Amino acid sequence: MKICIDCDDAAVNLKKVLYNHIKSKGIDITDLNYSEGKENSMYPEIGFNLAKEVVAGNYDRGISICGTGLGMAMIANKVEGIFAGTCHDVFSAERLRKSNDAQIITMGERVIGPELAKTIIDAWLVSEFAGGGSTPKVAQMRKLEKESFASNK
Ligand code: RB5
Repeated sequence: MKICIDCDDAAVNLKKVLYNHIKSKGIDITDLNYSEGKENSMYPEIGFNLAKEVVAGNYDRGISICGTGLGMAMIANKVEGIFAGTCHDVFSAERLRKSNDAQIITMGERVIGPELAKTIIDAWLVSEFAGGGSTPKVAQMRKLEKESFASNK
C-alpha cells in the first residue's frame, strides 16, 4: 500500500509524527511537501494537490492534516473520484474505510494530540472496504457524484 501525506502550516508537527509513525511500520509513505519553496500556500491548494495525486493512482490512500481537518476534507471532496472524511476517533476512522470506502482521511492538529492520532491512523491502516450493505450506498454516491460533476461542465 502506498500512502501520501501533507499538511498546511497549522499541522507541521502532527504531519512529522504520523509520517515517522507510518514509516516505522515499513509502510511506503511519501511526504508530498507541497508547500516547500512556495510562498503562502494554503490548505486548499495543498489538499487539492494531495487528492489529485490519489485519484491519479499514484497513491492508494492519503492523509491530509490542517488545523481542524475540515478544510482539507472539503477540498479533497471537490476532486471527482475522491471521498474524504475528518476523523478524530477510532470508530469513525474504521467506518471511513469499511462503510464509505474513502481514500483520504483528514485530521486537525488543533483538535487531537499525537498519541490519539497515531492510534486512529493504526485503525485506519488495517481497515478495508467491507462491501455488503455498503456497496449500493457507495455506488449511489459515485453515481450522484458523476451526475453532479457532469452538470457543472
Ligand atoms: C488555518 O489556516 C486553518 O484555517 C486551517 O489549518 C484549517 O483548520 C482549515 O480548515
